[in-house]
Amino acid sequence: MKVLVTGGLGFIGSHTVVELQNEGFEVVIIDDLSNSSLDVLGGIEEITGKKPVFQKLDLKIKQDVIDFFEKHKNLAGVIHFAANKAVGESVNNPLMYYENNIGTLVYMLQRLTKLKQQNFIFSSSCTVYGQAEELPITENAPVQSAESPYGNTKQVGEEIIRDTCKVNEKLNAIALRYFNPIGAHSTAQIGELPIGVPQNLVPYITQTAIGLREQLSVFGGDYPTPDGTCIRDYIHVVDLAKAHVVALKRLIENKNDSNYEIFNLGTGKGSSVLEVINSFEKVSGKKLNYKIVGRRDGDVIAAYAETSKANDVLGWKTELTLDDAMDSAWKWEQKIRG
Ligand code: WQD
Repeated sequence: MKVLVTGGLGFIGSHTVVELQNEGFEVVIIDDLSNSSLDVLGGIEEITGKKPVFQKLDLKIKQDVIDFFEKHKNLAGVIHFAANKAVGESVNNPLMYYENNIGTLVYMLQRLTKLKQQNFIFSSSCTVYGQAEELPITENAPVQSAESPYGNTKQVGEEIIRDTCKVNEKLNAIALRYFNPIGAHSTAQIGELPIGVPQNLVPYITQTAIGLREQLSVFGGDYPTPDGTCIRDYIHVVDLAKAHVVALKRLIENKNDSNYEIFNLGTGKGSSVLEVINSFEKVSGKKLNYKIVGRRDGDVIAAYAETSKANDVLGWKTELTLDDAMDSAWKWEQKIRG
């Protein structure tokens, strides 16, 4: 069975392509290479021995999207990662985010609703919850007004899919709300490739440890948490990738309870910034140079998933630990800077 993965050369996309191939799916990747590299194709092939079909395509060009779906009518499903995802950048350049993240989603859905039946997995984010009132966070927690245009594109994206599924019963969709994806494939053939100065914690840690960055700034040590630093649910990207295959198979096998479902994807465990640093120091044997500085605007104090719906309904749970993720992230950093 053939599956389309948009943004399939990206961080989570590439790990998902590996797990799809491991499950015997034929994969077609669309990527515009704006935030990824063709080398990732080689990394995927190194791991699975199978090279995915790749087409460089900018999903903002409506005719190209139409032409693509004219050529690929027999898709078993579509997993849609392609989007910009830098919170800070989205604040300074909202229209780029709305055009790319929302415009391309509309073009995709217009094609899918023309097909007889389609299965669609949407890359969403726990960012839709903002600072949730109750922890751990369930899928019923209220969606709060987004802190950034990036977060808003995930909220609006989910609403567009919800409204489209309401009037297209042949469109089956699942939105997956990721908590904090970290780590890399155990083979160190693929991993996170942040362009420029990393915004996210874990790549900043590994780049500091390898000497690319002088010192990690810990944004805030005075939060109302046990050690004063923010708490997040850090999920290994391989566990996250596997969840996409489980979700797609749920739709292919018609096991879904409705044609639009939402699942939180996390470990269910919160870890503080200092705990992540300690995990890194333990697995790497290296002391990390960091300094606690002022808080970063827009940060929530704590966010971690309530995982029973993903565990019991979707039938998926995480298997890898924070240490596994930090170990794989460090091995990947050493591989690409080696
Ligand atoms: C985690 C913690 C920071 C960097 C964002 C997006 C989310 C998703 C994941 C795309 C926070 C602290 C960070 C640093 C630090 N992105 N930190 N020093 O903000 O939870 O989530 O990335 O899908 O949608 O919102 O992740 O890794 O940026 O921060 O102290 O140099 O690490 O303050 O507490 P975040 P993050």
